[in-house]
Amino acid sequence: MLPAKVKILFVVKANAYGHGAAPLAKEAERLRLKGEPSADFFGVSSVEEGAALRKAKIKTPILILGSLYPFESFLEAARLNLIPTVASLEGARQLSAAGLKIKKRLAAHLKIDTGMGRVGVSHKNAFEVVDFLSKSRGAALTGIYTHFSSADSDSGYTRLQIERFNKALKNNGLKNGKILIHASNSAAVLNHPEANYEMVRVGGVLYGLWPGFKPLLSFKARIVFIKKMEKGASVSYGRTFRARKPLRIATVCVGYADGAPRAESNKGEVLVEGRRCKIIGTVTMDMLMIDVTGVSGARVGSEVVLIGEEGKEQISASEAAGFSGTISYETLCAISQRVPRVYHW
Ligand SMILES: Cc1ncc(COP(=O)(O)O)c(C=O)c1O
Repeated sequence: MLPAKVKILFVVKANAYGHGAAPLAKEAERLRLKGEPSADFFGVSSVEEGAALRKAKIKTPILILGSLYPFESFLEAARLNLIPTVASLEGARQLSAAGLKIKKRLAAHLKIDTGMGRVGVSHKNAFEVVDFLSKSRGAALTGIYTHFSSADSDSGYTRLQIERFNKALKNNGLKNGKILIHASNSAAVLNHPEANYEMVRVGGVLYGLWPGFKPLLSFKARIVFIKKMEKGASVSYGRTFRARKPLRIATVCVGYADGAPRAESNKGEVLVEGRRCKIIGTVTMDMLMIDVTGVSGARVGSEVVLIGEEGKEQISASEAAGFSGTISYETLCAISQRVPRVYHW
């Protein structure tokens, strides 16, 4: 979708939205070596996340999207060749001091707040920080960026953010080519190509969480126990489910400690043998129960799909998120570390 000259930052924070940051980053580097379009940068949220990628021998430039605190971590970021985000004059001063300490000009990207209201120097008075960084002998401004709050839902507001960003760039004499300018997330790549600038930062489209993109991940477990339930019998903590007729119930070895939200109790659905089955009773820490009355092939060992495809049926991350009233991003980030990730490249 993107013109070839637009660089791409793969957002791999939060363990690549639950997919596993190091294996995905490695695969992205392999694709790039093969000459395929891939990551020019990786984006993480903290020094620790960047350190994990460096430990996995990732060589690609890494931008820390989060605002660093305590500021001493600028030295650790420099040691690991991670590019920090500066979001205030105080941050710029501390970065410069860290650079002077080790006699280096430490590269940083400046974050401008054009209306997200999270972190960043206000678009109205970025001059002070840009001026400070351009004169500093301990820091070097190599990139500048902003972040959209509603590129999926409010094009008027996104256009206002773009306008504010353009004005801030112009007022500070910052031009394409001199410095890496970036703004767009997945929604903006899809809806606002005028905001591509020199690089885009994408997570959602990369993981196939947006319509028209192929999901990368399936989340599966297995049936570990099957029993018949008599009319009137209850299931799980608090007896929130009672059988109105005899049922065949399966226990699945996945619970809220794995990332099957407790909020899916008596609401969620999963796939067994390509058929939809309801989650019944309260989801427990390590197990949940489903109604397999209509699925005669269900047995101990059968695969249970919480997110993914089976036969003609599919449960997307967005649908699964809807069962517990959240969004696909949160649902994937919630798949915990104890769930083994298996990669099929
Ligand atoms: C600063 C920043 N840029 C880009 C992204 C990527 O957003 P998306 O996954 O919607 O593409 C994020 C994700 O939260 C972000 O925080």
